[in-house]
Amino acid sequence: MSNDITLVLGATGNTGRRVTARLRLRDTPVRATSRSSRIPFDWFHPAGWDQVLRGVTTAYVVPVPVPGPVHDFVARTEAAGVRRLVLLSGHGADDWGDSAFGLDMRSAEDAVRGSALERTILRASNFAQNFDGRPFRAPLAAGEPALPAGAVPGPFIDLEDVADVAAAVLSEPGQHAGRVHELTGPRGPPQAEAVEPISRASGQPIVHRRISPAEYTATLVQEGWGEDEARHLTEMFVLFERGTAAWTSDAVATVLRCAPRTFEGFVLRATAAEAWRC
Ligand SMILES: NC(=O)c1ccc[n+]([C@@H]2O[C@H](COP(=O)([O-])OP(=O)(O)OC[C@H]3O[C@@H](n4cnc5c(N)ncnc54)[C@H](OP(=O)(O)O)[C@@H]3O)[C@@H](O)[C@H]2O)c1
Repeated sequence: MSNDITLVLGATGNTGRRVTARLRLRDTPVRATSRSSRIPFDWFHPAGWDQVLRGVTTAYVVPVPVPGPVHDFVARTEAAGVRRLVLLSGHGADDWGDSAFGLDMRSAEDAVRGSALERTILRASNFAQNFDGRPFRAPLAAGEPALPAGAVPGPFIDLEDVADVAAAVLSEPGQHAGRVHELTGPRGPPQAEAVEPISRASGQPIVHRRISPAEYTATLVQEGWGEDEARHLTEMFVLFERGTAAWTSDAVATVLRCAPRTFEGFVLRATAAEAWRC
C-alpha cells in the first residue's frame, strides 16, 4: 500500500468525482471516499476516520453544510500524519454575515486555518452546472422557472475549472501554501437572465418568473425538499442578490494559465447532452 495517498472527500459529488478522475489520470494514488465507498467516510461517524486517513498525505476536503465536524477532522488529519489540506469553500465567504452559508463556510475555513498543516482554500462562486442539476433542471426543461433571482451578475464558475484548479493545487506541494483562491468565471449573466442563452441554444421557449424568497421556499417544500434544505437553497439566492459575491477574480487564470470557461460554453456542452430536454 502506498504511503503517499491523496484523499478525496465527497468523491461521488460535483467536484470530488471530477478531481478524482484528474488525479487518477496523473497516476496519483487516490482514495476516493463518500458514505458509499469501499472504505466509507461519513462526517457524522468519526470512528471510521482513522481507517480513511491511513497512508494519506494530502486531502481534498468537501465540507458538510453544518458548522463543526471539520474541526475534529482536521485534528485527526494532523494526528494521522497528513501534510496538506485543500478545502472547498464559497466565493466571498467573508461577506456572508451570520447566514447559515457564512457560518458553515467560515467554520470550515477556521478549522483548516487553525491547523499546522500546509493548506489552501478554494472559494468557488456558484457553479454554472447548478442550472442542469437539482432543483433547477426540471423547471427549465418545462420552460417555466420561477426563482427569487434578479439583476445581479453571476460570475458562475464551470465545475471543470474548479476541478482543474483543485487537481493542480493538490499536485503542486508548496506552491499554493496559505493561499485563498477565489474561483470565479468571467462576468456572467444575472441568474434571472441566465435562462436566455439556455433558451436560445436549446431552441426551447423558457420564461423566468421572479418570485419572493418565501414563495420559493414553499415551492421547494411542495416538491419534496426538507424545510432546512429549502431554506438553505433560498438563502443562496438572497445572499447572491445582495451583490457581495458578484465580483470576478483572476485566480483561475493565474493557477491554470488559461482563461476560465464561459457560461455560454457550459450552455453549449449541456445542450449537446440534452440537459434541458423535457
Ligand atoms: N453549488 C454551488 O454553486 C457551490 C458553490 C461553491 C461552493 N459550494 C460548496 O460545495 C460543497 C459541495 O461540494 P460538491 O458540489 O462537490 O458536492 P455535492 O455534489 O454536493 O455532493 C456531496 C458529496 O458529499 C458526500 N456526502 C454527503 N453527505 C456526507 C456525509 N454525511 N459524510 C460524508 N460525505 C457525505 C456525497 O456522497 P454520498 O452521498 O455518497 O456520501 C457527495 O459525494 C458544499 O460545501 C457547498 O456549499 C457549492
